Amino acid sequence: MKICVIGSGYVGLVAGTCFAESGNNVICVDVDEAKIEGLKKGIIPIYEPGLKELVLRNCEEGRLSFTTDLAYAVKESLVNFIAVGTPPGADGSADLQYVLSVARSIGQHMDGFKIIVDKSTVPVGTADKVRVAVAEELDRRGAALEFDVVSNPEFLKEGAAIDDFMKPDRVVIGCDDVRTAEIMKELYSPFMRKSNRLIVMDVRSAEMTKYAANAMLATKITFMNQIALLCDLMGADVMAVREGIGSDSRIGYDFLFPGVGYGGSCFPKDVKALAKTAEECDYDFILLKAVEEANSRQKKVLSDKIQARLGNGGAKPLAGKTIAIWGLSFKPRTDDMREAPSVTIIERLLEMGAAVRAHDPEAIKEAKKIFGDRITYSTNQYDILKDADALAIITEWNEYRNPDFERIGNLLVQKLIFDGRNLYLPNRMKQAGFEYLPIGRNG
Ligand code: UGA
Repeated sequence: MKICVIGSGYVGLVAGTCFAESGNNVICVDVDEAKIEGLKKGIIPIYEPGLKELVLRNCEEGRLSFTTDLAYAVKESLVNFIAVGTPPGADGSADLQYVLSVARSIGQHMDGFKIIVDKSTVPVGTADKVRVAVAEELDRRGAALEFDVVSNPEFLKEGAAIDDFMKPDRVVIGCDDVRTAEIMKELYSPFMRKSNRLIVMDVRSAEMTKYAANAMLATKITFMNQIALLCDLMGADVMAVREGIGSDSRIGYDFLFPGVGYGGSCFPKDVKALAKTAEECDYDFILLKAVEEANSRQKKVLSDKIQARLGNGGAKPLAGKTIAIWGLSFKPRTDDMREAPSVTIIERLLEMGAAVRAHDPEAIKEAKKIFGDRITYSTNQYDILKDADALAIITEWNEYRNPDFERIGNLLVQKLIFDGRNLYLPNRMKQAGFEYLPIGRNG
């Protein structure tokens, strides 16, 4: 099948590459000329395991190409995916200007029947706006051409994007036309080998499904974060509690890891956008507001613990202290720093007068754009520990899971670890002579 994917960001690039891998002819489009020139040479603008190899192979085999020429891509393709960004506007609602501008461009250049697919995360009702935008452009041209608008939200996770796309838990197709639904099913059939979990529904329900899924996951994490704080106060161990409740199949074990608060480009933005949508309908979605508030508080928990343990009072309670940080990206296997809890934590430590040194396997370049030379960086996780007053773990990269504790103990001024991701066993840490402060397991 001939398809184009407009917007070569995380979702667009992964989706386009995986569609090419399954045998389709795919043209990826972006307005960013430098990005497209780079992609043509195999330079991938994001860090995503496995993506580079797939892009190179499919380009070589002629199934995948990159262009800034949207008109050409639309004319060549039956299915046109819109995968451009929907950043939060000033009021928290999703900004649709890029989606609608692409829709208008499709209307200007299409020359036959087209299926237009919203892949970007967009609020309920966006497909209608896309339909109007395309129809207006066709009217302007006096062109009587048929098209269909489909909502096909994406559920992939950064860091596991290829696997999530190739072996999805489900694919949701919001579509009001039987013929178009059949074409979409055909496109996704290579990814349905494990189980056929392609769910066809009306367009509005598909749009809502994406927000409901992310809001539910953000709520699940937040609930566990709050239980963890209560565990700290009550002398219970949140990891035991997770085992205890997760064994109930209605609850499950996933997304119940307490931590430093959720971040990234999706949960914070989508929770805000859904709350905004509710507000526009005069509906008071109190649960979502609480999730947002609890998550911003959670991002402060680790720095509060550091202040409580090492602070000297005064305006700069951590003056003279050095904190070593392991992990800057919002989660492992990505260099993405958007809404990363590390930003809140480090800014607070700096405000309190601490000197901060940081290690991250992938995100240092991105982190430098935020912190500049206000903190120091190293690509060696042990170098930053020398004479630091404590180690604070923010992101659960695999290299932090089984470190050389003897070396850590020898390098730090005192054997003190604040763990925002509960990577180690409190008893073992105690035996090794560490003062260990995890989240929700200080019983
Ligand atoms: C999330 C969803 O998981 C994807 O299904 C969705 O497609 C994507 O948003 C999107 O809308 O594009 P992503 O933001 O890449 O994916 O990352 P997640 O792995 O979901 O993690 C989000 C945040 O939750 C991270 O900050 C992570 O540390 C935190 N988290 C996750 C926890 O604190 N505890 C957990 O148990 C799980």
